[in-house]
Amino acid sequence: MKALILSGGKGTRLRPITHTSAKQLVPVANKPILFYGIEAIVECGIKDIGIVVGETRAEIESAVGDGSKWGVRVTYIPQSAPLGLAHAVKISEEFIAGEPFVMYLGDNLIKDGIKPLVSEFASSRPDAQILLARVSNPNQFGVAELEDGRVRRLEEKPSAPKSDMALVGVYMFNAKIFDAVRAIKPSRRGELEITDAIQYLIDKGADVRPHVINGWWKDTGKLDDMLEANRIILSTKKKSLRGSVDSSSTIEGLVEIAEGAVVENSTIRGPVIVGENTRIVNSYIGPYTSIYYNVVVENSEIEHSIILENSRIKDIKRLEDSLIGQNVEISRTLKKPAAYRIMVGDSSRVEII
Ligand code: TTP
Repeated sequence: MKALILSGGKGTRLRPITHTSAKQLVPVANKPILFYGIEAIVECGIKDIGIVVGETRAEIESAVGDGSKWGVRVTYIPQSAPLGLAHAVKISEEFIAGEPFVMYLGDNLIKDGIKPLVSEFASSRPDAQILLARVSNPNQFGVAELEDGRVRRLEEKPSAPKSDMALVGVYMFNAKIFDAVRAIKPSRRGELEITDAIQYLIDKGADVRPHVINGWWKDTGKLDDMLEANRIILSTKKKSLRGSVDSSSTIEGLVEIAEGAVVENSTIRGPVIVGENTRIVNSYIGPYTSIYYNVVVENSEIEHSIILENSRIKDIKRLEDSLIGQNVEISRTLKKPAAYRIMVGDSSRVEII
């Protein structure tokens, strides 16, 4: 069995972060989202992983490498443009080479992994198996209608959903899916939709089965979902203080401080993770905050946020519910005239009090 991880895409919902970098590499609890997916696949004993990449290919390749750090072989499959999930499958036919495979959306996080459903697929060998979860807002997802333990119909973001079963970003297929992705036409939004490909299989009488999960999962394509994923993963962490914490600092709860990090005269109230060589000085870091490596936080308060590498936050009263990109500087100024002076990228969002 092989695995295909989709790590291209446009990432429009996570701009401006995605103007300059891959959303799949945004860290959740200081680990790129993509790595959680790779680990979930590795846990299933799969050794051959294809990663579909787009414009951010170089960045993804340099983060993942050849897969040897997980003991697997990684093959990169360039997608000329983000033409849809079924298009990503279509261009991967040569890599898949007739084997059954699991397809995993690179921005999805499934807390309990995918081992049970991969073994179920491997033993019962249907033509396709889709992962489903009950949601309260099915009109925002691909929705499945079930009948006698089989999938009967799939609809992409229906205005009147016929069930509350949403498609989660993991699918399993045998080689029949390639007939489907070749046969379907682009949807109104111009993409080859995986729901159309699966519906094609159903209409041709293929055996398409559901696997319903009860555990937590998240498509991290938007800021709120990213912060929620961060919250949930941070809550599962253990306390570990490897950096240096001076005697005038207080560390409470589940706090992980990486090697080379320095905490001076500060309070950190977990769950919090602080990355390598980050400095927290005269500051308060509140629950559900992940601060990546080489960051400086000085005379500031931060809570429920994700701060990426090499950023500096100085003299900021309070920062909450925020995702701060790489190499960002946020500081207070005493310069006259007193004013906000801002240089932010396209599609940024700034709320000021
Ligand atoms: P989506 O989040 O559905 O699409 P997107 O990345 O274009 O984001 P947005 O809707 O915010 O513009 O994609 C799910 C995953 O699949 C994600 O990891 C990107 C990847 N993907 C591809 O690799 N190729 C594609 O053609 C598409 C559409 C997505």
